[in-house]
Amino acid sequence: MPPPDSSAEAGHPPGAPRRVLVLGAGAIGGLLGARLAESPALDVLVAARRSIPGLTFSRRGPTGDSPPVTVPVTPVVDPASLPPLEWVVVATKTYDTARLGAWLGTPATAGARILVAQNGVEHRERMAPFADPTRVVPAIVTYGAERRGPGRVVQTLDGLVRVPADDAGRDFARLAAPTSLRVEVVEDFVAALWTKLAYNVVGNSLTTITDLPVRELGRRPELRRIAAALVAEVRAVAATRHATLPPELAESMLDEFAAFPATVRSSMWQDLHAGRRFEHDAISGALVRVARLNKVDAPFSQMATDLLETLSPVRASPSP
Ligand SMILES: NC(=O)c1ccc[n+]([C@@H]2O[C@H](COP(=O)([O-])OP(=O)(O)OC[C@H]3O[C@@H](n4cnc5c(N)ncnc54)[C@H](OP(=O)(O)O)[C@@H]3O)[C@@H](O)[C@H]2O)c1
Repeated sequence: MPPPDSSAEAGHPPGAPRRVLVLGAGAIGGLLGARLAESPALDVLVAARRSIPGLTFSRRGPTGDSPPVTVPVTPVVDPASLPPLEWVVVATKTYDTARLGAWLGTPATAGARILVAQNGVEHRERMAPFADPTRVVPAIVTYGAERRGPGRVVQTLDGLVRVPADDAGRDFARLAAPTSLRVEVVEDFVAALWTKLAYNVVGNSLTTITDLPVRELGRRPELRRIAAALVAEVRAVAATRHATLPPELAESMLDEFAAFPATVRSSMWQDLHAGRRFEHDAISGALVRVARLNKVDAPFSQMATDLLETLSPVRASPSP
């Protein structure tokens, strides 16, 4: 019998596969789609902007990548062709969210729960034009993945997906339970989200602005000072959202970074060197927005955001 708190399951015909649409056939969309497709109880569709030949998935190991495995998902490019869905997993970059109306405005997605597998802290706000907040499940993804070509995805880092301990979060955990996708239901999800934001504000912003490997943030006293100031701002802003960050967060994060091999680079640094647009607006930019709303001073985060807007190979709003 379906659990009483699962509205999606409650209307589901017994025995029929549950349909999931992964929105974005990129690195994280490919990884989540591949792992969810392991469940025989799920029918996984993957939405792409342009036609893809299918999806292959491999894992990076110490001696190289595992052989790519073809994954049983259905690629879709036409929102009008979608069958009714129970879940949508949003796995586009944050800056592409505003253009998802073609997918999220269809009758097929109207009753679906939406897992937002993106960076930042504004998951529900980003979905507000498309879905009632009760249908939206913010997620923290700690897996690492890369896209090698259309529909060719490699997992670069093992991890998990964290979701809030509410009905919808638990429903997603049940959906993924028969697969190898690790989903953790987190009681204090807001604190986990803001802790992840602190890592991103420091790790992504400072390595990109300084063009340095992540470990230098923990090894250079002047960068440790700037990082500690950023974490203090995240802590003050997080408190306005009732999130309490661990007191030793800056020290433990920077010690962790200092122990990294020299080869570890942040994802934003990789975006810089690959000529890709940054997601800074969803990271330090979001921090500045919430700070402003709550009249909290965040000058270090403002400066980081302005520098990243200047450095981003593709800017949100080009200078006149
Ligand atoms: N990669 C990681 O290791 C990692 C780890 C943790 C969190 N994240 C977060 O996960 C999110 C996704 O990142 P990613 O690395 O997976 O990005 P990505 O590889 O660039 O994938 C995003 C995908 O979304 C597609 N897309 C964009 N707009 C679309 C639309 N309107 N319709 C259909 N598809 C659309 C893109 O299509 P095109 O190919 O046409 O551009 C691309 O395939 C980000 O918020 C990122 O911060 C990533």
